[in-house]
Amino acid sequence: MASLLTKDKISHKIALDILELVAQSPDAKIGLPTGRTPEALYKYLVSLSREKKVDWTKAKFFGLDEYINAPNAKTFKFYLEKNFYQPLKIDRNSCFNPIDIEDYDAFIKAQGGLDLTILGIGQNGHIAFNEPPCVKHTWTHCIELAASTREANKNFFESLGKVPERAVTMGIETLLSSKKIILLAFGEKKHEILKDALDGKVRAENPASYLQLHKNLSVFTDFGYET
Ligand code: GLP
Repeated sequence: MASLLTKDKISHKIALDILELVAQSPDAKIGLPTGRTPEALYKYLVSLSREKKVDWTKAKFFGLDEYINAPNAKTFKFYLEKNFYQPLKIDRNSCFNPIDIEDYDAFIKAQGGLDLTILGIGQNGHIAFNEPPCVKHTWTHCIELAASTREANKNFFESLGKVPERAVTMGIETLLSSKKIILLAFGEKKHEILKDALDGKVRAENPASYLQLHKNLSVFTDFGYET
């Protein structure tokens, strides 16, 4: 097996890839994740963009999901503000969130569709907030968060009881419509579910398994998953 790259090195490489994409297609439409997984990626996107004086003015950004009834500081919108939009002074008219737009899918389509979507994976196989079991034919919709997801995210809140019970998320079809998908999975805790998603049967019990149906998927891990 080739030597393993660390989360940090992978995040640096993907940040460079994204900057390359934006250099080639300045008006790229990009689906953005939240959570612990992409933190280093945003750090590099910010520092490398400043270093290389990248012009983000024509690009558009689409949050993948959002809690329903969360205090502002706990929302994914706030996360993206803090980690990406604010540091790069990105025009907020180019930043969109599924909770603010009535028909997110029609809106995304009207903008020309997603060129790139970056995804993490939940320990139960969720992508964005498509919790198992999840049929393939879903577009942006409201969901109830799985108990295990609320538990996994409780450290972002004061207590488990404060974690919202519902969220709005891009659906599986929304994600699969993206021209390119980058899936990130860091840490041993994600190993089993990722392996099942990529090698197991495509099925509702592991929503990430639907990614097998995508023709332009790149997967990056720090635990030596071999494709
Ligand atoms: C979250 C998000 C997902 C994310 C996943 C994994 O709560 N809704 O978009 O990919 O769960 O989170 P983490 O990266 O913190 O492990």
